[in-house]
Amino acid sequence: MASGTLRVAVVPGDGIGVEVVAEAVKALTAVADAAGKEVRLTPFDWGATRYLKTGVTLPPGSLELLSEGFDAILLGAMGDPRVPDNRHAADILLGMRFKLDLYVNYRPVRLFHEKLCPLKGARPEDVDFVVFRENTEGLYVMMGGHLKKDTPDEVATEIDVNTRKGVERIVRYAFEFAKARGKTQVVMADKSNVLIHAHDLWQRVFKSVAGEFPGIEARHLYVDNLALQIVRDPKQFQVIVTSNMFGDIVTDLAAALQGGLGMAASGNIHPGRVSLFEPVHGSSPPLAGKNVANPMGAILTAALMLEHLGWTEEAARLEAAVKWAVESDRTTADIGGRLGTREVGDAVADRLRA
Ligand code: IPM
Ligand code: MG
Repeated sequence: MASGTLRVAVVPGDGIGVEVVAEAVKALTAVADAAGKEVRLTPFDWGATRYLKTGVTLPPGSLELLSEGFDAILLGAMGDPRVPDNRHAADILLGMRFKLDLYVNYRPVRLFHEKLCPLKGARPEDVDFVVFRENTEGLYVMMGGHLKKDTPDEVATEIDVNTRKGVERIVRYAFEFAKARGKTQVVMADKSNVLIHAHDLWQRVFKSVAGEFPGIEARHLYVDNLALQIVRDPKQFQVIVTSNMFGDIVTDLAAALQGGLGMAASGNIHPGRVSLFEPVHGSSPPLAGKNVANPMGAILTAALMLEHLGWTEEAARLEAAVKWAVESDRTTADIGGRLGTREVGDAVADRLRA
């Protein structure tokens, strides 16, 4: 992996993705300049507009190009009302997750200031955990079908695919992360009381992998109880690991504790391979083009990317600049401020260059 120069593929995508990625790029450039390093950014116009114009979602050869030519991918968001079935989003975002085998969806949940948290009395030290969401199987594999479609007797199925290898590698990643970061507990959330086949596999794998990490408490919660516990007492959590669909739902809930989707960052990772970083939020068509979207999630996503690529100091500087902007109310309206998207990005970039 590169040290002084990083090669980043930038895919702004649709809607507010374009606006927030522009600010993340500003912050990345500023932090690299300040360190005398370089982030080489290559833009890709994949998204709804290109799809509508050309019929192409992810151009042929893209995945090879990304794997061979780049250290990481920074993506904004996919989704556009002009593509009602969201076909391009499935091809591009889920296509990269699946075909690049990015099996770890890493979503840190951190509160930068108590004023951002809807929970009474919650302080930053009370909301500080990570969610590892399995990212390549489960209910996302799009296996299934219709029988007697559009008739009163219609049957629709969606198959939940869970493989021993797939479950084991995400569970092991969670424990390894916990060990590396000095955490003392990993929570696995499933619905094994009802999904008696697939989540029985999760149970067995969790117990067996946990056995390799004697210093770390292995705790199980049913996912419905996890949702309740995250709201009731988030402080009890350090590391959570769960399936693809449950992770999707739980990380939106958790984002609410951080100040909303505008504050949440994520990485789609395969250790040692090109990985994809994107804010948790979507393209938000109603907010697009108005300079109102919160760019913090995208800037924090850039920080995750730098951390992943070994630029830990620069990642810490990006986070510190976001924290400073939050503390001094240099923020967009969704988290209580009065600035526009670009003005927040400028404030963060100026701080990084100061
Ligand atoms: C997310 C999003 C995606 C998902 C959508 C856009 C397909 O909600 O990254 O959490 O469900 O994974
Ligand atoms: Mg989601």
